[in-house]
Amino acid sequence: MSAHPEEVSSDDDLVSDVTFSVNRYHFGGFALKIKENTESYVGSHVWKAGIVLCEYFEKEKISFAGKKVIELGSGTGIVGILAVLLGGDVTFTDKSFILKRTKQNISANLPPSCKKRTKVCVLSWGDDQKNFPSNYDVILGADIVYCRSAYPFLLQTLKHLSNEMTTIYISSEMRPNLVSSIFHEKQLPPQFNYETVHRKESENIVVYKLTKK
Ligand SMILES: C[S@@+](CC[C@H](N)C(=O)[O-])C[C@H]1O[C@@H](n2cnc3c(N)ncnc32)[C@H](O)[C@@H]1O
Repeated sequence: MSAHPEEVSSDDDLVSDVTFSVNRYHFGGFALKIKENTESYVGSHVWKAGIVLCEYFEKEKISFAGKKVIELGSGTGIVGILAVLLGGDVTFTDKSFILKRTKQNISANLPPSCKKRTKVCVLSWGDDQKNFPSNYDVILGADIVYCRSAYPFLLQTLKHLSNEMTTIYISSEMRPNLVSSIFHEKQLPPQFNYETVHRKESENIVVYKLTKK
């Protein structure tokens, strides 16, 4: 199996560019300008769990310096962009039709010196993970646990990309009807050690830190 996933070209886009806004976010001294669709497609705007994960990195003064990082379900790219600014060598991933927006936001927020530490690749859970190596230092995912039928594929992907030295941060909005807790409390624990490292009660969002057993 190849461990060299193909990078996405700037033409690989199906997300409409017609209705968008550019919004500003501030974390740890960095000002981010994120282009978001005002239509409701799931990966085309910033989700609250993404903001909370960025706030957690800011609060804990997390550094990704020298770390090989992969983000699952990058969407607009806000979390991965902050991880690059915090020193990481970051592979942004999502379904192919989302990734033009991710690339636009990377270009708008990162100077060329930082852009060298980014890759943007298609990774649809359960289908593409074998194209990636298993030696990431850090795996990031914000609001990626919301579709119950995708849980087995997400689990396969996390297992493939990680080893016992990998730190995984997942930020999840605990929507009762979407049973995120089944993934976090029943499906992850047999294979991963996990702890709750941050909770934003007002938004019902939890940040988990995981390592492979
Ligand atoms: C709720 S959005 C969160 C986006 C971003 N992480 C944030 O916090 O703003 C979920 C993201 O996961 C991606 N996603 C959903 N199912 C996926 C799958 N099976 N494989 C890869 N990505 C997936 C979506 O395309 C979307 O970008």
